[in-house]
Amino acid sequence: MLKEKVLNAINEQINAEQFSAFLYLSMSAYFYEKGLPGFGNWMFIQYQEELTHANKFFNYVNERGGKAVIKAIDQVDTDFAGVIDVFEKTLAHEQHVTDRINKLMDVAIAESDHATVSFLKWFVDEQVEEEANVTEILDTLKLINGQGNGIFMLDREMRSRVFVDETQAAE
Ligand code: FEO
Repeated sequence: MLKEKVLNAINEQINAEQFSAFLYLSMSAYFYEKGLPGFGNWMFIQYQEELTHANKFFNYVNERGGKAVIKAIDQVDTDFAGVIDVFEKTLAHEQHVTDRINKLMDVAIAESDHATVSFLKWFVDEQVEEEANVTEILDTLKLINGQGNGIFMLDREMRSRVFVDETQAAE
């Protein structure tokens, strides 16, 4: 059985992961409309990944005999000032998520909930990967100033990303 503080914090995180999913879906729409289907694809996969994160928390709550509470999702941004702007916002958002996961870990530690501490380690590692991936793309975008031939080549590369449910692979 999950303690109330841990359960509440996880329920907040389910909402935060769903918010992340919608934010990336909105960014995907922006890219498709701007004629960058590779970037649109990359963000759509990011959206799918965030849903698996939310569902990993959801399944964990069920497994521990708690009740997941599904809440309204705040409105996400629907317009952006270019490719670099999108990835700067993505990096800032992932840094915010890392902060949230760390705070969630603090709650689990304070409540001596070792099972949740163990469960959260997957997310701690995932955030390192998320921030590194986005930083790499952002660095490349800055090198090419987010325009010209470079952007079309990068768009083609982004088209090859395929969705893999890493939450399943890890279990
Ligand atoms: Fe669910 Fe991108 O962290």
